[in-house]
Amino acid sequence: MDVEIRTAEQEDEAAVTAFTEHPRVHAEFVTWLDEGISLVADSDDAGVVGYVHLHVYPSDEAWIDVLAVAEEERRRGVGFRLVDAAVEEADDRGVDVVRCMGMAEDSTVEGFADSVGFDVAAELHLARGFGFPYGSQFEEAQFDASLETIRDTGVYGRVNGLYADAEGRFRGLPTSVDGFDDARILGFSDDGEVRGAVVFSGRGVNRDAPENRSEMVCGFVWCEEDYASQMALDVRGEARDRNLQDAAVWIPVDLVPSFDQAGFDVGGKRYVYQRRV
Ligand SMILES: CC(C)(COP(=O)(O)OP(=O)(O)OC[C@H]1O[C@@H](n2cnc3c(N)ncnc32)[C@H](O)[C@@H]1OP(=O)(O)O)[C@@H](O)C(=O)NCCC(=O)NCCS
Repeated sequence: MDVEIRTAEQEDEAAVTAFTEHPRVHAEFVTWLDEGISLVADSDDAGVVGYVHLHVYPSDEAWIDVLAVAEEERRRGVGFRLVDAAVEEADDRGVDVVRCMGMAEDSTVEGFADSVGFDVAAELHLARGFGFPYGSQFEEAQFDASLETIRDTGVYGRVNGLYADAEGRFRGLPTSVDGFDDARILGFSDDGEVRGAVVFSGRGVNRDAPENRSEMVCGFVWCEEDYASQMALDVRGEARDRNLQDAAVWIPVDLVPSFDQAGFDVGGKRYVYQRRV
């Protein structure tokens, strides 16, 4: 089988959606042709058998949103070549680091990530908690200013796979959650200093929950350690203030004890993988 890696085109949509059920591909294949990097693996005998899409962010980082190879064509080097070509194109666009998020303890993802030269950069946990009646101390921060604050901490993009782009739209969302058009950053401050910031997307629906609970969905970007418990309570308070049934937030591993203690249900371990370009 001879495989060519090339830029994806509109005509490839049917072939790609035939071998991946990933909801974001079905929803965004065409939009993604003009956003970031979309490549397909086109074989001489079986047609299009692989697909990868990356978003390229202004901070010179790129995230792999989707990577999929048709089941019957796996373990023949197609995924490897797709990632290699995508990283090369990202390099041409000035990207410094390519990242992706994968379920931890998934041996395919772990084995593949290792083989394409990705290391584990961060461990994240999905924390979910009912909105208990705590007062919220979040202040809606001006978006650009907060983004700078987070960037200055040096953890921007590193601690989470949820990422707000320049327009404040979310990227890299967990696939079980839908409806994220309304992202904002909320700054948490004390004594006039920003102690933490959370990217808040508004309302989502947790399709994993039997009753499809509406929830507040956040990417937890950064928090000073001493303020983690307060942050956990305020995430729930914010959800309650917005009349949402739940709050879901990706947290870095060192904040797990504080969120656990605040009554969040912590699970869904994921790794952020990265490869320097
Ligand atoms: C992950 C995926 C894209 C890999 O594609 P692929 O074309 O089969 O990968 P390659 O053949 O290029 O594999 C390269 C190396 O990765 C590692 N690898 C690939 N699949 C593996 C598996 N199931 N278990 C362990 N290691 C694996 C191996 O080291 C392999 O080299 P080898 O075959 O010489 O041992 C494919 O399995 C897939 O589409 N999975 C479903 C979607 C998914 O999980 N996407 C990844 C999100 S990060």
